[in-house]
Amino acid sequence: MAAAAAASLLLAVVLLSLATAKAWEALPLQKRAFYSPSFSMAPGSVAFDYFYDVEFPRGHLALKSFRADVVDADGNVIPYHEVYLHHSYIVRYYQARNYSIPPVLDIETLPYGDGFIYRRNHGICQGDLLGQYFGLGTEMQSTPTAVPDPYGIEIGNPAPIPDGFDEKWLLVVHAIDTRGAVDRFGCAECRRDLYNVTVDQFGEPLKDDYYGGLSCCYAHTQCKVREDYEGTTRSLRMRYTLTWTEWVPSIIPVRVYIFDVTDDMKLVVNPSSGAVSAKHDCLIEYMVESCHVDGNGEKGCADFKKSIVAMPKGGNVIFGLTHLHSGAINSTLYGQDGRVLCTTKPIYGEGMEEGYIVGMSTCYPEPGSVWIDDGELMVHESVYTAERRRTGVMALFYLLVADRVADTPAAPAGFNDNNFMGIRSMKSWRRSSPAVAGER
Ligand SMILES: *[C@@H]1O[C@H](CO)[C@@H](O)[C@H](O)[C@H]1NC(C)=O
Ligand SMILES: *[C@@H]1O[C@H](CO)[C@@H](O)[C@H](O)[C@H]1NC(C)=O
Ligand SMILES: *[C@@H]1O[C@H](CO)[C@@H](O)[C@H](O)[C@H]1NC(C)=O
Repeated sequence: MAAAAAASLLLAVVLLSLATAKAWEALPLQKRAFYSPSFSMAPGSVAFDYFYDVEFPRGHLALKSFRADVVDADGNVIPYHEVYLHHSYIVRYYQARNYSIPPVLDIETLPYGDGFIYRRNHGICQGDLLGQYFGLGTEMQSTPTAVPDPYGIEIGNPAPIPDGFDEKWLLVVHAIDTRGAVDRFGCAECRRDLYNVTVDQFGEPLKDDYYGGLSCCYAHTQCKVREDYEGTTRSLRMRYTLTWTEWVPSIIPVRVYIFDVTDDMKLVVNPSSGAVSAKHDCLIEYMVESCHVDGNGEKGCADFKKSIVAMPKGGNVIFGLTHLHSGAINSTLYGQDGRVLCTTKPIYGEGMEEGYIVGMSTCYPEPGSVWIDDGELMVHESVYTAERRRTGVMALFYLLVADRVADTPAAPAGFNDNNFMGIRSMKSWRRSSPAVAGER
């Protein structure tokens, strides 16, 4: 009897939540794969391309998900042990109709002039750094990135676009061909001793204590390949798959933030007004020193890196994901009182993909359960194994935040879509739901 009563109570609860869920009608999701122009890669070569005005969904839309793969001319996905996708992301800009930009650039400097307006995400690094809306690195292979209903990343709203300008998208690709490499992971980490460089991408001499990182693996550099190795030059493209819906007023827009663990933030007080502002200094990458140096070289020793960052505008956490490199253990964002806002862990590949991060656990908190206050000081922590030195590692926290909560339960859109989600990480979604996140 008790069991039956419990069952009917459960049924009532389920029916009730279905009734509330119905208040928000899911909008038809559109999905399409787009392709970048092609780039050629030979064993050991580096592609670092800035593709301007790439194909993108047009109109006033809510973006719901993104994934990106390196594919060959026939559309076959290239595995990471052949071509390591260091990073790939998409940036928004407005371009005047009488202003031209070459379709591909291999310099890391954005176009300038009155005809180009960079429209970065909501922050928080200095200048144009880490201003992308979507995209990070290899974890994209099997990490769900679906923005749950009824939230969306708003694009194509005509109101803020100045007269005579169009909204366009820049796709950045940094890939390293490690076929035949003397040291595949060394090439992927951009270790200086494996590349033919003496100066950085801007022509400045490298410092003696710079052992590797982005300043060693820019366009036209070459990583060391075994002398007996013969591999073909291949023509590759990025395939980026997006889902979206038409924008309607019931969609709640999310703000896109990327926090960098290397950010050396300083709070600056204006002497006359007393207003406090944050000055950011993101370095994008850092080096993990081997714990062997000070004799603590036991297996499993870890490197903890922390930074403190102020949340510019508070809100409700909708989604969290991190970009980490091989060797990472986890990454966490804590609130000012020490509560866990979101913690994520890498998922490592198997077989030939062993050692590569192929996915990341994500945070999809229950709506309204994880709030960050305006100006709240958050601690950003990343943990890497330190049994050896690792160069050019990153820890970027990608966080979607909304001003208000939906009055209906959030369901990640398109969650049954194995094609673009990957099976592995579906098991781990919601691993940092508040119940879990609350345990410390
Ligand atoms: C482009 O058009 C704007 C006015 O819409 C004008 O101010 C600007 O000088 C033009 N630039 C060029 C390069 O023609
Ligand atoms: C590195 O080697 C490649 C191929 O041999 C060459 O094209 C490139 O100019 C070299 N780059 C640098 C920075 O020395
Ligand atoms: C991250 O990993 C380190 C090292 O294993 C561990 O001590 C720490 O508790 C982990 N952090 C979280 C939030 O799980």
